[in-house]
Amino acid sequence: MEFVTERLVIRPWCADDAARLYSLARDPEIGYWCGWQPHKSEEDSARLIRTILANRGTYAICLKSTGEPIGSISIDIDGDSMMTNWEDEGELGFWIGRPYWGNRYAEEAAEALLDDAFNNLNLSKIWSGTFDGNERSLHAQKRLGFVPVRIEHDYFVPAYNRTTDHHVAQLTRENWNRRHQ
Ligand SMILES: CC(C)(COP(=O)(O)OP(=O)(O)OC[C@H]1O[C@@H](n2cnc3c(N)ncnc32)[C@H](O)[C@@H]1OP(=O)(O)O)[C@@H](O)C(=O)NCCC(=O)NCCS
Repeated sequence: MEFVTERLVIRPWCADDAARLYSLARDPEIGYWCGWQPHKSEEDSARLIRTILANRGTYAICLKSTGEPIGSISIDIDGDSMMTNWEDEGELGFWIGRPYWGNRYAEEAAEALLDDAFNNLNLSKIWSGTFDGNERSLHAQKRLGFVPVRIEHDYFVPAYNRTTDHHVAQLTRENWNRRHQ
């Protein structure tokens, strides 16, 4: 599966992306907000491409102009999200490499996946969880139409052995389609 937007090509991660992934995901500012430790080596990134990033619904966000990956996006549709077990719901996650922040790339990629999730996969609701203090992500989600639902206090982040407030938001298909009529 591949999605093409105005500036992006969104396609599955592949083994050849390891060096590029490492150059982006070694940055502590990415993993901290996603709940994973920075990638430690190119081999570490290669292993993650074969495992976590090979999950259905996970894609590399690539610049159309260069073909290079600049970030990652997923809609977890396997019903094992921490926010919901419902089979017609999913959970959105994304990150963009720091040199590319400020261009609304995450929003553009999310638009493509959300449209597919609601109108092809027929999901009824997408959830999103954000750690307290991540104003960039909260802002991007708000623009996409996510609505805050609750704040989970003392939410445990195992990779950092810390707790934080966890901002949970949702976007329904009705809301999405109303915004995209
Ligand atoms: C969240 C993330 C994916 C957004 O990337 P992006 O597509 O480049 O987003 P942008 O930087 O273009 O947009 C961020 C918005 O937040 C706004 N913003 C930045 N700091 C802000 C703050 N302190 N308060 C409010 N808004 C803020 C920016 O102005 C921008 O909005 P605008 O375009 O309307 O001006 C990226 O910052 C990232 O990868 N962060 C680390 C990983 C992460 O947090 N992933 C999400 C986990 S929930």
